[in-house]
Amino acid sequence: MPSRPLASLIPAAATSDGAGVRLYRSLGSQRGLRLDPFLMLDEFFSDDPGDYIAGFPSHPHRGFETVTYMLDGHMRHEDSAGNRGDLGPGDVQWMSAARGIVHSEMPQQEAGRLRGFQLWVNLPAAEKMRPPAWRDIPSALIPTVPLEGGGQARVVAGSFEHAGSRHAGPVGGLSTEPLYLDIRLPAAARLQVATPAAHNALLYIYEGEAGVGPDAQAIPHRHAGLLGPGGHIDIRAGAAGAALLCLAGRPIGEPVAQYGPFVMNTREEIEQAIDDYRTGRLQSG
Ligand code: CO
Repeated sequence: MPSRPLASLIPAAATSDGAGVRLYRSLGSQRGLRLDPFLMLDEFFSDDPGDYIAGFPSHPHRGFETVTYMLDGHMRHEDSAGNRGDLGPGDVQWMSAARGIVHSEMPQQEAGRLRGFQLWVNLPAAEKMRPPAWRDIPSALIPTVPLEGGGQARVVAGSFEHAGSRHAGPVGGLSTEPLYLDIRLPAAARLQVATPAAHNALLYIYEGEAGVGPDAQAIPHRHAGLLGPGGHIDIRAGAAGAALLCLAGRPIGEPVAQYGPFVMNTREEIEQAIDDYRTGRLQSG
C-alpha cells in the first residue's frame, strides 16, 4: 500500500466559543469542512487568563462524542448524568454524548497556561440515541512510546506499532475505530504510522512543522493536513522539530445534519433535539 499523500490543508482559524474562550479551529471552521468521522478539531492555547477564564458553561450535546485532551492547565467537567472530573496535564476525557448530555467545562486556574484540544467524533445513526457515556482517562494510563532521537508518541486511542511492538491506547472498541496519537519529533526525524486503508486520516501540527507523504509535502504550524488514500503515513519533522496529532478513523458514510452542538442525520432529528433540549428531555436519561 502506498504512503498517504497530502490531499488538502485546513488552516486553523482563530475564533471563540463557550463564554468567550479563544481557540484555533481547523476541522469544523466552515460549513462542511469535516473528515468523516471527525467533525471538529479545536486547539485552545493561551497564557492569558482573559482568553479562557469564562470557560464553557452548561451546554448540550447530542449525536456524537467529544474528546478533550489537556496539555497544560486544569479543567473541571460536570454533567447532567452526575459525572464530575478534573482534567490535568496529559489527561483525556472521552465523552459519548449520544442521546444527550448537558455539561460544563470550566478552567480551574486563574493564571498560567491553558492548552489542549477538543475533537468531535461522529456516531453512526444506530448509536446516536444510546445512553450517554463518559470516561476520564488519567495521563498515566496513556502509553508513551519513546522514539529514536528523543521523540515520543502518546497513544490516546487505537493502537500504534513501532519497532516490532504494538502499543494499545486506553480507548478502543468504538465502531469508528479511532486512532489518536500525540507525536513529538526532533528536527528532521521520520516516523511511519500504519493506518487501515479504508480509514480517513489527518495530521494537525501544533508546534513546528512537518512534511507528509512520499514527497514530504509541508504542513505548516496550526494547519490540519487531510491525507489521501494509502496504507500508512510517512511523517518527517521540519528543521525545528514538530509536535502533532495524528488522527484516523473509519468513515461512517451517512448524511450529517448539524446545528451547533447537535449532530444528527436529518433536519427532523435536529428539530427533535432542539425540542428535547427545550423541554428537558434531552438530558433526562
Ligand atoms: Co461541550
